[in-house]
Amino acid sequence: MLQLTWTTALPTDGNQLIAVAVRDEPDPRVFDARFGQPVREAAAAARFAGKPGETFAFTSTRDGFLERVVLFGVGDLAEAAGLRTFAHDAVRQGHAAGATRVVLDLQSFFADASAFATAPTAARAGDIIAQGCDLGSYAYEDFIAVDKRARKTVREVVVVANGSTGAEGTARGQIIAAAIARARDLVNGPAALVTPTHLAEAATEIVSALKSDHDVEIVILERDECSRLNMGCFLGVAQGSDEPPKFIHMSYRPRGPSKGRVCLIGKGVTFDSGGYSLKPTDGMLDMKMDRAGAAAVIAAFEAAVRVGVNYEVHSIVAATENMVSGRAYRLGDVLTASNGKTVEINNTDAEGRLTLGDALVYATKLDPTVILDFATLTGACIVALGPRIAGVMSKDDALVADWLAAATRSGEAMWRLPLPEDLKEQLKSKVADMKNTGERYGGAITAGLFLTEFIDGRRWLHVDIAGPAMVSKPYGSTTVGGSGFPVATILEFLSDDLH
Ligand code: BES
Ligand code: MN
Ligand code: ZN
Repeated sequence: MLQLTWTTALPTDGNQLIAVAVRDEPDPRVFDARFGQPVREAAAAARFAGKPGETFAFTSTRDGFLERVVLFGVGDLAEAAGLRTFAHDAVRQGHAAGATRVVLDLQSFFADASAFATAPTAARAGDIIAQGCDLGSYAYEDFIAVDKRARKTVREVVVVANGSTGAEGTARGQIIAAAIARARDLVNGPAALVTPTHLAEAATEIVSALKSDHDVEIVILERDECSRLNMGCFLGVAQGSDEPPKFIHMSYRPRGPSKGRVCLIGKGVTFDSGGYSLKPTDGMLDMKMDRAGAAAVIAAFEAAVRVGVNYEVHSIVAATENMVSGRAYRLGDVLTASNGKTVEINNTDAEGRLTLGDALVYATKLDPTVILDFATLTGACIVALGPRIAGVMSKDDALVADWLAAATRSGEAMWRLPLPEDLKEQLKSKVADMKNTGERYGGAITAGLFLTEFIDGRRWLHVDIAGPAMVSKPYGSTTVGGSGFPVATILEFLSDDLH
């Protein structure tokens, strides 16, 4: 964690890198007064026009000190993603340059009023900046020799802004960044390491560490307990793996009055081979990511408690691998879920909805105000929305509105998909209440429709994070690998009222 302070004056000494936010072409007079005409001309020659993603780096001297300056073209800094990306990129460049301090200059070419105009408070800007700064140091390097790891020299970030201060949001942003980093770690770890048992241990460690100061609990159900609860769909997926399945349930009650009981369910398939509907190598390569939903709800739980949200929060994960073996579930098998519904398996690679089905039934029995589930559920959702946007499905318009508003505030990209009843026809089975997969077209939607069979009339919303859960080309504040999506939005959601 970096030391982060807010000030109105540029620090002048020390081994620092100054990151200057520039929006469009800066005013030449302002620019020349600050850096001199030759720098402006050099930037123009390099085609730096202050557009998002453009940078121009130079060194100059000020008061006898060598100063590294990077101009960052930024978009609308009132948008969370742009603000977080700016902070993230600046810190990452600071590390690369060997600087010990990074100065975020929001003053020279930005009036605070306009920069944070649509942000409800400066505290939110502070929150987002703190997230970006700490994520600028993130790397998954557990399996890289210590001397080969990326250098991390930055210790301190100073944000220079006129008048208004975002210092208030700093602590919150740092808590959220830590949760995002933990979620990334839980996705980036190889499947041989991050097993269902490992997820259960991570959740137990989180709850143990919070126990002395907060009303938190954890229950881990072993296979035989899940069997007693008739979780036939979850256990059907789990039966092919030598790794014991774990059903994880973390819970938190706020100190003051609760605004409602929120169940967060995460898909926790620690590795998805596809089972007998085996994936080809290319499709299996990244399937350690299939626990990204679980990683998000486990990590977000910790942040929710530390931030002190005013909801009762339950994070629930039915964790298992989806493997091939002499004991694995077969095509044509019929599984019975814990609500008594029977499912004909016509594709063992549609395992996520089976594990989620039993997790949803479990959640409905907690008398929840709302249930949200997060799952790397379908390749079809990536086809529909591309790799960076999550699909949101629910029949509850008010809940969708609350969730999408939270996503806008946190700067995570999401889009609603419909749940047309007539596509349910694709799931009709001759031997059971339903099949687990429909046809190729509309695959994200039929997966969502399948889940509606397990919600028992509860307020529920499903987020298919198959695309944004893992990043292959870096963008925003995410490097290659697990992104920590949608931890930031979960925290935003839990910080607002339900409508
Ligand atoms: N975990 C996958 C979905 C997935 C695919 C996530 C690509 C991230 C990237 C899921 O279990 C799966 O295999 N879904 C199938 C469903 C199909 C069999 C109906 C798919 O998308 O192909
Ligand atoms: Mn699968
Ligand atoms: Zn899967």
